[in-house]
Amino acid sequence: MYWKKSSHEQIKETIFEALAENMDYRGDRPILGIPGTYLDPTEFYPDAPFLKDAPFMSALVSNPNHIGVHTLSEESVLEVFKGTQKIESELIQLVSEQIFKGEKGKQDGYVATGGTEANIQAIWMFRNHFRSEFKLRTEEIALVYSEDSHYSMPKAANLLDLSSIILKVDSANRQILPDDLLGKIEKAKSQGYKAFIIVANLSTTMFGSVDDLNFLGDFFTKNGHPFRIHVDAAYGGFIYPFTNPNSVYTFNNPYVSSIAADGHKMLQTPYGTGLFLCRKGLISYVKTKEASYIPGKDYTLSGSRSGANAISIWMILNIHGSEGWKYKMETLCDRTERICKHLSQIGISYYRNPYLNIIAIKSSQISPNLANKYYLVADTYERHPNWYKIVVMPHVKPGTIDQFLSDLEMENKSTHN
Ligand SMILES: Cc1ncc(COP(=O)(O)O)c(C=O)c1O
Repeated sequence: MYWKKSSHEQIKETIFEALAENMDYRGDRPILGIPGTYLDPTEFYPDAPFLKDAPFMSALVSNPNHIGVHTLSEESVLEVFKGTQKIESELIQLVSEQIFKGEKGKQDGYVATGGTEANIQAIWMFRNHFRSEFKLRTEEIALVYSEDSHYSMPKAANLLDLSSIILKVDSANRQILPDDLLGKIEKAKSQGYKAFIIVANLSTTMFGSVDDLNFLGDFFTKNGHPFRIHVDAAYGGFIYPFTNPNSVYTFNNPYVSSIAADGHKMLQTPYGTGLFLCRKGLISYVKTKEASYIPGKDYTLSGSRSGANAISIWMILNIHGSEGWKYKMETLCDRTERICKHLSQIGISYYRNPYLNIIAIKSSQISPNLANKYYLVADTYERHPNWYKIVVMPHVKPGTIDQFLSDLEMENKSTHN
C-alpha cells in the first residue's frame, strides 16, 4: 500500500481545478435544464474571502451533484460535474486498490451516506444477483450474520424481504461458533434456502471483533450452495488495513465481493461519507434502468448526493498519504494498548482486538456511575447492560485516560476491600 502525501497547496489546487472543470451555475454556460443550483447566496455568499483558501467549503457552496456511479464508463461521468465526479472515481480507485489491494480498474463504488446505506446496497445487489443468475425466489435467499453485527443488517433484511440467520458468537472471543453455523445452515437448507448472503465484520461496533473471513468462505464453499460475502468495514475499514499488514480483508481474497468502509468514523470526514466498493460486474444487478434522465443510469440507493462528500474523503487521504495515515492509526492502537495493559494490572478483564482501538469492559467490572462519567457506550439501553465500550478516538487525551484509569482503580479497590 502506498500513495504519496500531498501538501495543502497541492490539494487546494487539484480541488479548485476540478471545480473549474465542472460547469459553474454562476458561469457563462447556458444551464437551463438542471433542477439544481448553488447554495442559497443570502446565507452562503460566494464572495466570502475565506472560500478561496477552503476547497471543501467551496465545493459545498458550488454544490455539485454526484448522482449515479462514476467508475463505470466515461458515460457515467456527467458532463456538468465531470471535474469533481472524476475526483470521486479516483477516490474509489485509491481505496479499493491501495487500501483493499484490488486489481487496477477492477472495482466499482460510490460515496454513500454511511455504513448503513453501503451495507444495504451490497445486500440488495447480492439478492438481485441470486434472483437473476440462479432464478431464485427471494424466500430462497438468506442473509447470514453474527449476533454482534450492526443493526443495519436486520434493517436490510426487513427492507429487502430477506430472512436473517443470526449466528451465535463465543462470549469470550466473540468469534462465530462453528457448531451454531453448521446447525443453522443445515436447517436453512432443509427449509428450502438455496443461496446465502454473508456479512463478515471488520469490525463489530461494540467489540471491535473481526470475523474469521476465510473460515466463513471455506465453510460456504464446502457447503455447496451459492454464496457471496460482503465485508462490513464501516468501522474498521480505515484502521485495520493500516495496523495489520497481514489483513485478509482485501479484494485479493476471492471470498470478498464487496466492502463498506465509512469515512465519518476513523477517517474524520463529515457525516454522510461512507464508501461502497464492489468487484466489477456486480453493480449492474442494482441498475435502475428507469433512471432515464441520468446519462449513465443510476446504480445507487441514494440518488442525488453531494460531490463535496467525495472531496472531503479524497482530501483527508491525500493530506496524510499512506504512511501518515498508518502512523496515525498505529498511534491510536498504541494508546489503546496502554489502557489495556493498565486494565490487566488492576485486574479488570476486557475484550480487545489488537489491531483496533475499541475496548469492551464487562459491566460487572465498572459501575454505571463511572461508565456514565466518561460517556462509555453500553451494549444496550433496554436493560442492564452486559458491556461498556471505550473507543480511543483522536480526541481522547492521555490525561483523560489517566484520570479514567485512576478512578477505575479506586473503584475496583473499594469494591474488593
Ligand atoms: C460495524 C458497523 N457497521 C455499520 C454501521 C453503520 O454506519 P452508519 O451509522 O454510518 O450508517 C456502523 C456504525 O456504527 C458500524 O459500526
